[in-house]
Amino acid sequence: MATRPSDLEVKAPRASCNRSVGSYLRFRLVPYGKIGKAALKAGMLLLDRKLGLARTFSDMSVQFRKFISPELIHGPGSRRWLDRVAVNMGLKRVCLITDKGVRQAGWVDQAVAQLIAAEIACVIFDGIQPNPRPQQVRDGVATYLSGDCDGIIAIGGGSVIDVAKGVAIMVSSGGDIMDFIGVDTVRMPCPPLICCPTTAGSSADVSPFAVINDEENGLKQIIFSKAIIPDVSLVDPETTNTLSQELIAETAMDALSHAMEALVSTAGSDLTRVHALRAIDLLTTFLPLRLRDRTNAEACQAVMEASLHAGLAFSNAGLGLVHAIAHTLGGMLDLPHGQCNAVILPEVVDFNYATCPELYQLAAKVMGCEPSQQALVDHLRGMQSQAMPGIQGLMADEYLQHLPRMIDNALSDLCLVTNPRQPAREDMEVLYRRLIRV
Ligand SMILES: [Fe+2]
Repeated sequence: MATRPSDLEVKAPRASCNRSVGSYLRFRLVPYGKIGKAALKAGMLLLDRKLGLARTFSDMSVQFRKFISPELIHGPGSRRWLDRVAVNMGLKRVCLITDKGVRQAGWVDQAVAQLIAAEIACVIFDGIQPNPRPQQVRDGVATYLSGDCDGIIAIGGGSVIDVAKGVAIMVSSGGDIMDFIGVDTVRMPCPPLICCPTTAGSSADVSPFAVINDEENGLKQIIFSKAIIPDVSLVDPETTNTLSQELIAETAMDALSHAMEALVSTAGSDLTRVHALRAIDLLTTFLPLRLRDRTNAEACQAVMEASLHAGLAFSNAGLGLVHAIAHTLGGMLDLPHGQCNAVILPEVVDFNYATCPELYQLAAKVMGCEPSQQALVDHLRGMQSQAMPGIQGLMADEYLQHLPRMIDNALSDLCLVTNPRQPAREDMEVLYRRLIRV
């Protein structure tokens, strides 16, 4: 049954699909101000490890929550469980979806050798580019059908996994991938999907989101469905050893944005905030070391675990304005997703801060900076410039001609519904103008 707008306590942005986000997640989307101040404070005390308290529990008395996740096998070497997992699922012929870079790094050959030893046939589709287009999904479907497959294995970053989810939808439900844009549009169960992420940041391997670049309309479209949460994710930090410094930084800043947005999301709970804060903690401690020394195994594992925590947090709490804006820039200007998030994040924190200062103060404490708006914003700007030296701003001012369209797209983005403060058009214009390259 369609969800009535009045079922939500948050005023949804314009896209009609946004109205059903709350019912989909079985959340009641409660604006920050409607949660009892005392209860919220108590919940935050629970989370605040620096205060060392576990005295009370807030959210259970306020609302029901649901927490979803794939089966997770994580830690160094966990990719070696691929054959056992596939055999346990009864797979006989799989479609292995990847990209050429991952293939060159050798991870695909290892996986194929495992599958052959387990007597599982496989066909490979490696035609995937960053910010994947609908045609790549259609091509993946053709490969799947040509191999008469009974399951999908995705080895790669967010783009690879998003395409794998798209293929899973089309081979079970028919139609075209663009028919499934929106919330809870996938009615048929998908074939088994096993993921082995090779970047530490997108968390597509745990999330119910698939992002497809609608190049005709210059925007990123979102499919949001429990049906596309992978069945199993093998989260192996060793697969990120071959990443470039640039990609490590971009994907880690994506993970930081996931954690920061989930922390203040209006659909957050104690459980999601625990994961969000742990992700922020790990990234604060280990990202500088990871960027300094790519051979440091501890830092490599910590950043991968941070991505996993951030993924569990946003998969269950939703995202916010950072991603709403990033999707417009990725769709229109084809900019790397992590780069967009890294630059936008401090500006959005500055915009949101007064709506939920207590939650941002928790993040500031975990990051080891003074719990004030300016200190946190400065700290995030510092992290961004340290991770991505030379990137100051995202757009050349010639793109200002597209501003009305980008604002429309961001205001209609699915992610905006759980942002703690709903922006007006004028707010959006100010935020976009701050992203002009200097
Ligand atoms: Fe993201």
